Amino acid sequence: MRIPHAIKGLKGELKVPGDKSISHRSIMFGSIAKGDTLIRGFLKSADCISTMECFRAMGIEIEEGSDKNGEYILVRGQGINGLKRPAAPLYCGNSGTTVRLISGILSGQGFDSCLTGDTSLSRRPMKRVIEPLSQLGASIRSEKGDGLLPLLIEKGALHGGEIRTKVASAQVKSAILLSGLYADKETRVIEPSLSRNHTELLLSAFGADITGGSDEDPVCSVRPGKELHGLDIEVPGDISSAAYFMGAALLVQDSEVCLRNVGINPTRDGILRVFKEMGAHISIENERTVSGEKTGDIITCFTSDLKGCEIRGSIIPTLIDELPLIAVVAAAASGDTVIRDAAELKVKESNRISLTVNNLKAMGADAEELEDGMVIHGGKTLHHALIETKKDHRIAMSFSVAALKSSDVQPVEIRDSACVGISYPDFYKDLDGLANG
Ligand code: S3P
Repeated sequence: MRIPHAIKGLKGELKVPGDKSISHRSIMFGSIAKGDTLIRGFLKSADCISTMECFRAMGIEIEEGSDKNGEYILVRGQGINGLKRPAAPLYCGNSGTTVRLISGILSGQGFDSCLTGDTSLSRRPMKRVIEPLSQLGASIRSEKGDGLLPLLIEKGALHGGEIRTKVASAQVKSAILLSGLYADKETRVIEPSLSRNHTELLLSAFGADITGGSDEDPVCSVRPGKELHGLDIEVPGDISSAAYFMGAALLVQDSEVCLRNVGINPTRDGILRVFKEMGAHISIENERTVSGEKTGDIITCFTSDLKGCEIRGSIIPTLIDELPLIAVVAAAASGDTVIRDAAELKVKESNRISLTVNNLKAMGADAEELEDGMVIHGGKTLHHALIETKKDHRIAMSFSVAALKSSDVQPVEIRDSACVGISYPDFYKDLDGLANG
């Protein structure tokens, strides 16, 4: 994909696709609930389709349809013990959320299973779920003993207990909590800082006996024995997808973009806080709660005097997926932006620290890698380059935004640009709509 610099401001409004984290969870929890779960606003991207296919392979009927209110997904839940032994290894594609959350569910089943994934997922660390789930009584190991996929899970007896996680990861926390549905006692998770709490909110809406997951009550605990019941879910727009258009509007002169019905859960809204600290003109309208999640319309205008800032500590889990984009915006801001406590970026779909820094440098920015983050010395003029994505969707989208700010007429080339299909299949079409509509 070749993306030219913007010739005019981005204008108009957009409904970004459904939240990826909530879409995964809707399928998973709907499958182990009793009765039907109707999902609207579901994100039909490669990652969420991986989750759908895994549950279909365990005997769950998942229908896709549409009616006068638009498209929907109907999950015919079979109850907490209604999954069937899959005939083959469950393939999770590129999706860390699929493999890690399912590992928690599979630990509590009365059958053996195996989890696999694509090349990128096969490089990502699984010890983070193997260790805590094993401590809780699960029989789970990596086939080659290297902490990587394939994961082999055998029938185990989960006995609950308390886990202090080493990293603030919603995927790890969720795997533990989901295993707790199948334990014979309470399961508790204490995180170093609070990660996204969609599992806690949605499991509770399905009827699970679960508490915690907020700043006031950060220790999560789940008690077994409650049946989950199917429900209707409206998935809000994904703030991680909305972020690219916020970034684009901030950087391109004369822009004003309204992003409708975006999830602004406080465990995900770090991007709003950071952009505001950088001096961004952003406002939120029509705040409401949809399916237990706070949402609003986000209006972003071009801001000529963006300045760098320091991002570290407990805000990091609330904007972890937005850091490559923040780095792009920081490159165009004045002064330095320092990102620390973000070593997790190295074990995402790619090493997002080195890939972001290298691509920024290729475009003429001044950036340095740190062990746990990066420093961007802002204010340099950006120019066209060939962007290496390593098939990481968030790198492709972040640098598509950078392309709009490039100062020369030659377009920026995004290698393996189709990877945006992991989380946002229509990304280029929507970007073009706002930039040239
Ligand atoms: C996710 C949690 C985050 C995030 C990922 C989705 C989730 O990962 O990066 O894109 O849905 O729970 P970690 O929890 O491992 O940081």
